[in-house]
Amino acid sequence: MGLKQIKKICCIGAGYVGGPSMAVIANNCPEIEVNVVDINENRINQWNSKELSNLPVFEPGLKNIIKRCRNKNLYFSTDIVNNIKSADMIFISVNTPTKTKGIGAGQAIDLKWVESSAREVSKYASGETIVVEKSTLPVKTAAMIKKILINPSSKNNSKKFHVLSNPEFLAEGTAINDLQKPDRILIGGENSFAINALKKIYLHWVNEDKILETNLWSSELSKLAANAFLAQRISSINSISALCEETGADVNEVALAVGMDSRIGSKFLNAGPGFGGSCFKKDILNLVYLCNHYGLNQVATYWQQIIEINNWQKNRIVKIVVEKLFGSVADKKIGILGFSFKADTNDTRESPAIEICKELLEEGAILQIYDPKVEKEKIESELRAYSRKWNYANSVFDAAKSSDAIILLTEWQEFREIRWEEIHEIMRLPAWIFDTRNICNVNRMKALGFCLWSLGKQN
Ligand code: UDX
Ligand code: ADP
Repeated sequence: MGLKQIKKICCIGAGYVGGPSMAVIANNCPEIEVNVVDINENRINQWNSKELSNLPVFEPGLKNIIKRCRNKNLYFSTDIVNNIKSADMIFISVNTPTKTKGIGAGQAIDLKWVESSAREVSKYASGETIVVEKSTLPVKTAAMIKKILINPSSKNNSKKFHVLSNPEFLAEGTAINDLQKPDRILIGGENSFAINALKKIYLHWVNEDKILETNLWSSELSKLAANAFLAQRISSINSISALCEETGADVNEVALAVGMDSRIGSKFLNAGPGFGGSCFKKDILNLVYLCNHYGLNQVATYWQQIIEINNWQKNRIVKIVVEKLFGSVADKKIGILGFSFKADTNDTRESPAIEICKELLEEGAILQIYDPKVEKEKIESELRAYSRKWNYANSVFDAAKSSDAIILLTEWQEFREIRWEEIHEIMRLPAWIFDTRNICNVNRMKALGFCLWSLGKQN
């Protein structure tokens, strides 16, 4: 039996993945109605906001698509039930954080949001429905989704489900471009009609040779493995950055030389304050959990080390700052430039800035935090315990005022254009700049009278 034409899509979860990925589908497939639903009413209101700068997700290029498609073939709503009922295809794009309690706490993924979405689908879907896992999930989650969907009570009715794994590889800050021009589209599944129905959607804008079909488990594991490999590159170059500081090698030069080997490649070799984002740590922890579960303890230890190096990198930056500021930062003002985990996103999940700020606050520093896109409330929720010791700065200037040091943590373009001569005038001397992203020109900063510490360089 062939499947009906996909006319209506429902995406459960209007977050950083669900929102942009559905916007791009709607933009490329005008004949398909795309409904993005969420239990969070506030988030849906933000997506529906007339003022496009109020969208809950900041991504270059997103506003334009929303402007074009919203309320034409792209809708944001809290009506989960009716949108599930009428959908031919349902994407599950809900949060999948690491478990904080119980078995697997600190490593395994908390599947409660996936489970409750699957239960809603099982209850309300009608006819033949394709259910697509979009969120990054542990291997064999599709089996759980299937068990929930194909439960005995729905056996005798007309409902029929096909489960596919279609992990999203977008990186935040470049999400629209990544979605529009993906390196590959991965579709894992068993039913060729379902696979073809999803493939047909992507063929609107993606070449067939970029669409890879695998079994369900390969698809689920590929996503975890890809993120683990990417994070591994960052921990590798970050470990080398420390060695560069000791030896006089320059980490940028080393990265360039290493990356010119075509077997290694030049991307993802920027040393920095440690990787952040919602995926890398979570996915590696999940991989570690899976390996231990299957008795592959050496493999688990191998991947765990990527996270250890990442924690160490954040920690050693704090130690260096304290050491340079004469062994104490107590009651000293420090400007923090950048709180998001990378440039061009307002997302702060697992941002290295969080850990670095917390440690500095523990040391008694008074932080003046500025980020071009992260709102005060988000920073507040991360640093709740330290509310009296930090201020939200409205500009680079505010963050720098009367400070003993500035720590550059995110590579925002705005920070590449800072008029450092003006900043020098408003800081307390000696004015320290800690550049963890290699944004500053060493000679120029020194000529301006700054004390500069650059990551991965002998200082
Ligand atoms: C990542 C994957 O890239 C993406 O494919 C997956 O779907 C989700 O996880 P994301 O976390 O959004 O995407 O951003 P990414 O560009 O991968 O950056 C992750 C972190 O690594 C950031 O904190 C970034 O600053 C850091 N990073 C990245 C470096 O420190 N150096 C680099 O060379 C690259
Ligand atoms: P991601 O980065 O994976 O997109 P987010 O946390 O940004 O993660 O988004 C996930 C969204 O999924 C949140 O807005 C959350 O409210 C929503 N969500 C979680 N569970 C459900 C559910 N059962 N039904 C609808 N939406 C849900």
